[in-house]
Amino acid sequence: MQRFSIIKGNIVKAKTDAIVNAANTSLLGGGGVDGAIHRVAGEELLEECKSLGGCKRGEAKITKGYNLKANYVIHTPGPIWRGGKFGEDELLENCYKNSLRLAKENGVKTIAFPSISTGVYCFPVDRAAKIAVKAICSFLQTDSALEQVIMICFDEETKEAYVNAFEEYKRKDAM
Ligand code: APR
Repeated sequence: MQRFSIIKGNIVKAKTDAIVNAANTSLLGGGGVDGAIHRVAGEELLEECKSLGGCKRGEAKITKGYNLKANYVIHTPGPIWRGGKFGEDELLENCYKNSLRLAKENGVKTIAFPSISTGVYCFPVDRAAKIAVKAICSFLQTDSALEQVIMICFDEETKEAYVNAFEEYKRKDAM
């Protein structure tokens, strides 16, 4: 569990091997963290994304990082919140699991995530944090190759949600 940490910051500044992009299914950029990553990475990122033919929600695709500090960007379109009865929880869990799987397949040792789907896609942040923390910590319990996973929260409210979710997870795990 000590390989997982939660900080407040801007994911485009992360020095990890990979950063995860809360993308949309076109993979052709957008606002929020997607817009920030494309702005810093530059045009070449968009060019590579155009060759990928989009990405289904809950799945993930990897590209180079170009002008970012990170060597890779893992793009994963999260679920759009529609009230919770349309498989949103499972899709969100798959975003984390598939991003971590792809990172491992590409020899990534350190990776940073944003809070997927809790912005434009309106997924409730406390609920999303529980799903994300469980998916990340469960992966780390079965994998020793990944050295560091960082959740980079853009604001205090989001950070608090993830810190609370992580504390709750550690309490349950200790039982
Ligand atoms: N670094 C870290 N986190 C960020 C950054 C940043 N530079 N910018 C935004 N965030 C945070 C938001 O505050 C929110 O907590 O990322 C989280 C996810 O918000 P969005 O970026 O809106 O992503 P999402 O809710 O998954 O919606 C994806 O928005 O930008 C479009 O193209 C994207 O259509 C897709 C949709």
